[in-house]
Amino acid sequence: MLEKLGRNLPCWCGSGKKYKTCHMAMDERLSEYRFRGIPTPSRKMIKNQEQIAKIRESCKVNVAVLDAVAAAIRPGMTTKEIDEIVYGTTTAMGAIPAPLHYQGFPYSVCTSVNEQICHGFPSEKVVLREGDIINVDCSSILDGYFSDSSRMFCIGEVPPEKRKLVEVTKECVDLGLEAVKPWAMLSDVARAVYDHATANGYSVVPDIGGHGVGIAFHEDPFVCYVPGRGEDMVLAPGMMFTIEPMVNMGGAAHYTDKQNGWEVYTKDGQPSAQWEIMVLVTEDGHEVLSW
Ligand code: MF3
Ligand code: CO
Repeated sequence: MLEKLGRNLPCWCGSGKKYKTCHMAMDERLSEYRFRGIPTPSRKMIKNQEQIAKIRESCKVNVAVLDAVAAAIRPGMTTKEIDEIVYGTTTAMGAIPAPLHYQGFPYSVCTSVNEQICHGFPSEKVVLREGDIINVDCSSILDGYFSDSSRMFCIGEVPPEKRKLVEVTKECVDLGLEAVKPWAMLSDVARAVYDHATANGYSVVPDIGGHGVGIAFHEDPFVCYVPGRGEDMVLAPGMMFTIEPMVNMGGAAHYTDKQNGWEVYTKDGQPSAQWEIMVLVTEDGHEVLSW
């Protein structure tokens, strides 16, 4: 049960403003949704302006790190070299790569090549070859605030069907983003992503997906891109989460490397693509924070 705040007391969001001039109107609207049986975000999912400003700065680092990777990536490069670029660029900007030591993850970035779905380990043994597709997933911590986004890269000439997988997956993210606005549903994002992926004959990984982010690396809600499979709730200004569908050319089935417990591969060996952006729900739509 949510506690009812006095109109003149400081808002629960920590802004220091009076409740009546801060989140009171939003709370009233959310309680109408709950009355109709529609799940609503918890207060923990709503960031205040101060937090948003800090997270924006973290996102600037994350975008710069991905830009540095984009400028350097080429055939013949090892994924270990990408790890070095990420570590070097992030720390030079006064930030920390969030993956490093996260639940035992041993590198600064995830590099997932071809049939690797996610959480690929950078390695000096993995040399990028013409025709490869790779997801580079960067996350940064600046002043305690988290950012998280990833891009696909096509290495040299990539066969058209793999290139199409990469392009359609990007379109899925763009379509999901269009669905992000206050008082829409989180499942609208899933529907937009899922419909476009499946219309192109692809599958969407149902059990690994997006998440709230900003104060911690992974916050609630879990953002699923298979409608009906994930958490659903109405979107409200101040929510922040990732859109990061994993789209497979073949089936959605996958397995995790038993030795390291991290690297996820498609079961059928067909390629997988993923793009990740970090988005904020604003009063009148959304703001992309990291891409
Ligand atoms: N960046 C990934 C995500 O999008 C998180 C990977 S966890 C790590 O959520 F430890 F592998 F980095
Ligand atoms: Co993420």
